[in-house]
Amino acid sequence: MAKVVTFANVKGGSGKSTLCINMAAILIREGYSVALIDADQQKCSQDWITGTKDKLLSRVEIIDQAEFMASKKVDVDFMLIDTQGSLTKEMAQFLFQSSLIITPCRVSRDDIVGQGWIEVFLKQSNRDIKKAPILTVLNGVNKRSSILSHVIEQLKEDGVQVAKTCISQRVCFAETNVNKISVIGYNKPATEEIVDLTNEALNLIKREA
Ligand SMILES: Nc1ncnc2c1ncn2[C@@H]1O[C@H](COP(=O)(O)OP(=O)(O)OP(=O)(O)O)[C@@H](O)[C@H]1O
Ligand SMILES: [Mg+2]
Repeated sequence: MAKVVTFANVKGGSGKSTLCINMAAILIREGYSVALIDADQQKCSQDWITGTKDKLLSRVEIIDQAEFMASKKVDVDFMLIDTQGSLTKEMAQFLFQSSLIITPCRVSRDDIVGQGWIEVFLKQSNRDIKKAPILTVLNGVNKRSSILSHVIEQLKEDGVQVAKTCISQRVCFAETNVNKISVIGYNKPATEEIVDLTNEALNLIKREA
């Protein structure tokens, strides 16, 4: 059965699609089969894949949300789900089917509050199922900023699982979005960050299995 990884944050623009697409490319490069559901009405990541000239991204299978909901059986190693920046009924269903939930988060109050909503939603649900771990990834950061370490400390104090890998603010993330490619082979430092993040995610999924 496919391991489901959902990218969620109630706050828009936190980097869900960017991380989802780039992690898909890395997983493909590592030899995994990957499918993607774009549950956002804007279909940003679906358009990214369908319009891509990127050799890795062109191997990502796009799955229709309704089809997945109906059968739930997809014959791939990883199913990545990109969601929209609001808590929808569909998002709730995805969260409960996930092996891992990734919440990208800018170093901003709104993003942190948005991340918190996902935590609260899962905690308060009394569904009798094993809930997926949430991995919060600080995105668009300046690693030299003292605010970053302060925010990480604060999140950890609040019991949030913060990824060791932070994703830097880099123009290449926006450029590759416009050009419908991944950062892999386009920008080495960005690729390294995505590789590290993907490894963290894979380790977490293995540990929970
Ligand atoms: N680390 C980064 N460095 C620079 N730009 C980034 C970074 N991450 C994302 N961006 C840019 O920020 C914008 C928002 O990112 P993205 O679309 O991934 O967010 P999102 O959470 O999917 O947004 P939405 O809620 O609208 O779906 C995009 O233009 C993207 O290229
Ligand atoms: Mg998006």
